[in-house]
Amino acid sequence: MRKIKIAIIGMGNCASSLLQGFYYYTDKKSEDAIGLMHWSIGGYKPSDIEVAVAFDIDKRKVGKDVAEAIFSEPNCTAIFCPDIPKTGTNVQMGKILDGFSGHMKDYDPKHTFILADDPEPTQEEVVQALQKSGAEILLNYLPVGSEQATQFYAECALEAGIAFINNIPVFIASNPAWARRFKEKNLPLIGDDIKAQVGATITHRALTDLFRKRGVKLERTYQLNTGGNTDFLNMLNRHRLASKKESKTEAIQAVTAERLDPDNIHVGPSDYVPWQKDNKLCFIRMEGKLFGDVPMNLELRLSVEDSPNSAGVAVDAIRFVKLALERGQGGVLHAPSAYLCKHPPRQYTDDEAYRMTEAFIENKLVDSPEPPNVYQEEGKSPVASRR
Ligand SMILES: NC(=O)c1ccc[n+]([C@@H]2O[C@H](COP(=O)([O-])OP(=O)(O)OC[C@H]3O[C@@H](n4cnc5c(N)ncnc54)[C@H](O)[C@@H]3O)[C@@H](O)[C@H]2O)c1
Repeated sequence: MRKIKIAIIGMGNCASSLLQGFYYYTDKKSEDAIGLMHWSIGGYKPSDIEVAVAFDIDKRKVGKDVAEAIFSEPNCTAIFCPDIPKTGTNVQMGKILDGFSGHMKDYDPKHTFILADDPEPTQEEVVQALQKSGAEILLNYLPVGSEQATQFYAECALEAGIAFINNIPVFIASNPAWARRFKEKNLPLIGDDIKAQVGATITHRALTDLFRKRGVKLERTYQLNTGGNTDFLNMLNRHRLASKKESKTEAIQAVTAERLDPDNIHVGPSDYVPWQKDNKLCFIRMEGKLFGDVPMNLELRLSVEDSPNSAGVAVDAIRFVKLALERGQGGVLHAPSAYLCKHPPRQYTDDEAYRMTEAFIENKLVDSPEPPNVYQEEGKSPVASRR
């Protein structure tokens, strides 16, 4: 029985959905497994993944078995697999750094983080815990704006010699210096900022691509998002949002026929509505011109449970990294990063990223040893491949 051992930073809603998924699919067969992009990747099914070590900073999670911690407040995502046996892995105290934003103190404990008073670990202690656990891949699920904390844990992954999946919009895979360091250590890296299964970003991209292919000039667009989980509460602090906004906006700009003037595109988290809990609402408007310069517009409302939507993608990212580890392939995994993330080092249209990812699974993807990084070459304007 081959297993994939992972480490998780941040046992919030996304980690909850992911862990529930490992158990939910245990007694399923490929024909009745709903909600997966791939049932098996390299022979690994979702139930072959286990959490070997986990870190958090909330007193209702630290010290608890991960099977219990994922159902502790303030987590509020849908529970689709309530009966998870104890795993024997207890959540360890993490390094706080900038993971906890000051404004979070002003809210009811059931909605916000409460700091644990356990002593924080040193870098050496985190590295030792990672190594001792046998984890092969570290998943970053820290709150948006955790620049220092993400860099701290990325350093720990490098030192412990394990791969890294960066689910959040702090730029690691799309930062050439970090990408180089993972390449030098031959450790796989996927990032940045996970793109949900059918979420706001991929839907907005698909429609933008449709406008382009059908010859409609996109002139103006917005994407407004509301939600009631701690992710949305954390993002009320606008200072933490710069990279999130960049990541989400560039994901759309990358597939437009022509880049939109910044005044004509507005994409980002918009407000926190507590009663929505983990339900995210997305409102998209697109204004364009079709044949004869005649105006048209489109409005769309998308309602999705935020965290299972990302877990359905993370469950594949983990297995892609495992394939790379088995193949001895290190550095950024460009095809999966483009398919699974909003801010990869190389942007492709989703159709092409899909084809490349399927080729990666079959080990038929031909990639140059040092592929160009769009952020390195063209500043902050990634260009989607038009091939
Ligand atoms: N849901 C999606 O579709 C989606 C998509 C893209 C990106 N993301 C990102 O994934 C991340 C996780 O999302 P979530 O909904 O699980 O958030 P969450 O708020 O539910 O979870 C964050 C967890 O991190 C913990 N934490 C905070 N600082 C820490 C530290 N220094 N060390 C260890 N743990 C710490 C918190 O206690 C909490 O348990 C967010 O940055 C979110 O923006 C989510």
